[in-house]
Amino acid sequence: MFLFTVLVLVTVIWTVQYRFRRRRMYELASRISHLKDELPFIGVAHKFMGNTEDVMKSLKKFSYEAMETDGVTRMWLNHILYFVMVNPEDLEIVLKTCLEKDDVHRFMRNVLGNGTVFAPVSIWRRRRKILIPAFSPKIVESFVEIFSEQSQHITHKVARVSGSGTVNLWPIVSAYSLDAACESTAGVKIYAQSETNSQFLAALEDGLNIISQRIFNVWLQLEWLFRLLPLYTKYQKHVKYVYDFTDEIIHNKRRQLKNNKQSQSDKGHYELDDFKRKSFLELLIQLSGGEKGYTDLELREEILTIIIAGTDTSAVGMAFTLMLLGKYPDIQQKVYEELKEVFGDSNRQLVKEDLPKLKYLERVVKESLRLFPPVPIIIRKVEKEMTLPSGVIIPSGSGIIVSIFGAHRDPKYWGPDAEHFDPDRFLPERFNLQHACSYMPFSNGPRNCVGYQYALKSIPTALTSILRNYKVVGEPEKGPIPNIRVKFDIMLKAAEGFYVKLEKRKPCLLKE
Ligand code: HEM
Ligand SMILES: *[C@@H]1O[C@H](CO)[C@@H](O)[C@H](O)[C@H]1NC(C)=O
Repeated sequence: MFLFTVLVLVTVIWTVQYRFRRRRMYELASRISHLKDELPFIGVAHKFMGNTEDVMKSLKKFSYEAMETDGVTRMWLNHILYFVMVNPEDLEIVLKTCLEKDDVHRFMRNVLGNGTVFAPVSIWRRRRKILIPAFSPKIVESFVEIFSEQSQHITHKVARVSGSGTVNLWPIVSAYSLDAACESTAGVKIYAQSETNSQFLAALEDGLNIISQRIFNVWLQLEWLFRLLPLYTKYQKHVKYVYDFTDEIIHNKRRQLKNNKQSQSDKGHYELDDFKRKSFLELLIQLSGGEKGYTDLELREEILTIIIAGTDTSAVGMAFTLMLLGKYPDIQQKVYEELKEVFGDSNRQLVKEDLPKLKYLERVVKESLRLFPPVPIIIRKVEKEMTLPSGVIIPSGSGIIVSIFGAHRDPKYWGPDAEHFDPDRFLPERFNLQHACSYMPFSNGPRNCVGYQYALKSIPTALTSILRNYKVVGEPEKGPIPNIRVKFDIMLKAAEGFYVKLEKRKPCLLKE
């Protein structure tokens, strides 16, 4: 009994002291409007415990709530305070000021280590400096050849899987995306599209899937428990495969560079022209300082980061665009007319000069990334209290959920037809955003996506090769608002998968 009393006392004292230390946080939180279904202690954690579709439903709900209440709402996830924000003026400041990523990313960090995307700011700065020149427009343009060649394989793959029935677009677009990423990143062809079972693709997908399970399952987050499960053995196997795979590529490249150096007289520094069709790996070795630059571990982290950050995001972008075209045949017809104008009856491969001519397709992709942004939220840590332009004060120690999904659908900035699928809203004469952060599928500020130009070339190139040859037929939509149930699976994805019918077009514009 005595022991019990002591225990209770200690708990009470600890709690009072804990709450006292955090009184500023509670006070500031109480000023912000919020949804009324909070529970004691766990806050709204129960709203994120269902399946990944429920999680996305909750994220949507909080985003719409924020739209109605001056762009911000807040929630407690257990003991952590999060602000969900959609106001573009506030978001610009947040994305400029809060560069540190939230701790929910620690499970990704287990795999990617200090790789740019989730690295702590102290490490991120140098890595970002080295990445930027590797993603210069000239270099990215040189990759269009890779995109174009790799997208030829899509039609072969489609021919194999389509038949007459419904197909799942996901394995098609993700295999393309991975093939393109591996070739541009590491200079290797892995033939994920030709093999029925690409081991690298499977290891990557299954590994990421286990990580996403951990992010949402409190039990799996416990390290000791996780390590007891068969899931852990699987996880380790996948991670090892992915590491071994990248390490081998890195070693080979190092050896090759060494041999080249010995055979060539050392020219000192390199010119931009030298950059033609070099892989990111080669560029990162050079840009970081050659043999004195990145270590093998650092290279592995960066290479995997680029592959992981670039593969599923682009694949999701492609898949949603195709789903939308299946729902809106008129819009697809306009895309097809444009393709006929650019390619005529020729079955030639796409070249980089074609892309700027595909203006309508570009608008379609942009509008698809608006309504279905592959990265629907970004979470940043608040390290110092700050006052935002709207007057909201955010306490240190909280987290900010930047709702890209919400900002993209806010009628305050997009008008009453914000939810409509209308590619022509991106026509230069109609597109007059008051604020850059109202449209940011690739985020904004110093930590935004370095791969956005890459994605905006890779996606249309691949779509072109499908749309020249096939008509996408989906469930027709009755109105201008596309209804696609979505889930939050690290990325935004269609809850029921990306299923459409692909009907072969006649005449065929591209040789098989
Ligand atoms: C449609 C496709 C893509 C989307 C929607 C997308 C989205 C994003 C977003 C939202 C972020 C920033 C997260 C934040 O602000 O905290 C990001 C970061 C990043 N992305 Fe992308 N991305 C795409 C394609 C790519 C591609 C193709 C690559 C590389 C080939 C890439 C490489 C990166 C890297 C390295 C970062 C980390 C930047 C940093 O932390 O400094 N992304 N991406
Ligand atoms: C990241 O970098 C820090 C500082 O250099 C280091 O202590 C840490 O071990 C690194 N983490 C990984 C996973 O490599």
